[in-house]
Amino acid sequence: MYKSKTCGELTAQDAGKTVTLAGWVHRRRDHGGLIFIDLRDRFGVTQIVFNPQTAPAAHRVGSDARNEYVLQATGVVAKRPAGQENPALATGEIEVYVTDAQILNAAKAPPFVINKNEDVDDSLRLTYRYLDLRRERMQQNLILRHKVIKFMRDWLDAHGFIEIETPILTKSTPEGARDYLVPSRVHPGEFYALPQSPQQFKQLLMVAGYERYFQIARCMRDEDLRADRQPEFTQLDLEMAFVEQEDVLNLVEALFTDLVHTLAPERTMQTPWPRMTYDQALARYGSDKPDLRFGMELTDVSDLAASSEFAVFKNALRAGGQVKGVRLPGCAEYSRRELDALVDLAKTKAAKGAVTIALKADGVHSSASKHMTPQEQQAYVERLGGQSGDLMIFVADSHAVVAAALGALRKEMGARLKLADPNALALGWVIDFPMFEWNAEEKRWDAAHHPFTSPKPEDMALLDTDPGAVRANSYDMVCNGYELASGSIRIHNRELQAKIFSLLNIDAERQRLRFGHMLEAFEFGAPPHGGMAPGIDRFVAILRNEDNIREVMAFPKNQWAQDLMMHAPSDVDADQLKLLHLEIAPPKP
Ligand code: AMO
Repeated sequence: MYKSKTCGELTAQDAGKTVTLAGWVHRRRDHGGLIFIDLRDRFGVTQIVFNPQTAPAAHRVGSDARNEYVLQATGVVAKRPAGQENPALATGEIEVYVTDAQILNAAKAPPFVINKNEDVDDSLRLTYRYLDLRRERMQQNLILRHKVIKFMRDWLDAHGFIEIETPILTKSTPEGARDYLVPSRVHPGEFYALPQSPQQFKQLLMVAGYERYFQIARCMRDEDLRADRQPEFTQLDLEMAFVEQEDVLNLVEALFTDLVHTLAPERTMQTPWPRMTYDQALARYGSDKPDLRFGMELTDVSDLAASSEFAVFKNALRAGGQVKGVRLPGCAEYSRRELDALVDLAKTKAAKGAVTIALKADGVHSSASKHMTPQEQQAYVERLGGQSGDLMIFVADSHAVVAAALGALRKEMGARLKLADPNALALGWVIDFPMFEWNAEEKRWDAAHHPFTSPKPEDMALLDTDPGAVRANSYDMVCNGYELASGSIRIHNRELQAKIFSLLNIDAERQRLRFGHMLEAFEFGAPPHGGMAPGIDRFVAILRNEDNIREVMAFPKNQWAQDLMMHAPSDVDADQLKLLHLEIAPPKP
């Protein structure tokens, strides 16, 4: 071993001991005579002191060393002189007087500062990820990620689950994204797909009788990237047989509650987690992944609008829509420009416009004052519980547009007004999602979750008459405005599965080709089963208050799905292409 102690463990009790440390030069201060180096390894930082009088050879090593050099030093632990302790450092009571030192490796000056948490250009960080990962913030992120995954494994093991790996080279499972394909050398013209999730395998494991499965599963999806999306990411994938929705929710809630209490006891969390249906979430928060850290709920004013003469409101109601508003506390004095920006935000969600009413000291001021009497305006203000100084904003449109527009305003204003307690983990359940979503472009129904999700038994009759009204036995776990997990009770009956495929426009021949194995498996005693899959990257990012899941992954891709360090994707040799029976078509001009 190059070291007898780590840089994070020495205390006053070790005074007098001779130790050998090895690590990186975190910081170096040359005081003319004495040289002080903060030596860093994964476990911490220890101050080591080079004295030219007592150890001249070691001192020469100390004076050659630069930041990020790899250094080994042997010396004697001493209590720091009174007044020079550093309570911010675990080893702040001591320092090590070096008797012998050697440089194990030199280092070029790094392209960014490692010993401070400064903002650094993202591409630079990703290009030199191995240096970025030396920084304390990244280290803490990865250490917490490890603890979270270990906790999950131990907890699930203690609850009768077993971890089973499933293939990476497989066939596409539809999770709503494009597949990454791998050409087969042995079978010209044929491709494996990388799994978008282990969905079908875990269901087949239930057919195989494993009852309680989990996996820390890598999933690959070729989709447009965002702060909470990477082309490959990690799920805690789990599945259980002989369970109903309630059983899955209770188990996952217990797991995450225990996890938060153990690994993040300083965070506040409401227990039991609030539950709401999809319809309630949209009605109250305008989102199916509401940030429950603050209220600012949407208020229905359709009944008031019905008795007014304001054409915009009336027309929306006549078309089967609604009128709703949200109260923005203390925003009555917003300038014209600020108000326009809010209306524009609503418009990005397909609203045709938005009406504002400000309750100022001298009364109501509305962008629609020509169309509404002050009494009418007052009625809206009262319905929303408006106080002097508040701004109210209203959207009249279809239910979906009203929810999207006001949901976006609520999110934006919640952030701007800092309504969310940064210490809160507002975990909750959204249940009873619709079974299908209408795909207007392709003029067909898509699965809202995935095609293996079972409809609610009480809505079964609607499958033939009104698919859009069918609710699924599916559920999402939300936290602080993110969707952390999705899951469902699955179909385990061949006829029903085939019927759902047909409703999704997958004809019998394609069902046989793409999902024949599932349909057939259901004929061999498939038990009732269900499960879910929390996204580990998103959860760890929330725990660490990181805005981008990239920050909790060791080697993520940038927003163009490139690995800047490895230079992936990259071209390959012509020979490799030939072996795979591939030819690259020249890019179209
Ligand atoms: P779903 O597709 O909803 O469900 O994914 C489940 C969870 O995985 C995370 N997630 C992602 N995280 C980072 N980057 C991405 N591109 C990304 N896509 C998804 C989210 C999401 O909630 N097989 C089903 C689960 C099931 O039914 O059991 C599935 O994959 O946190």
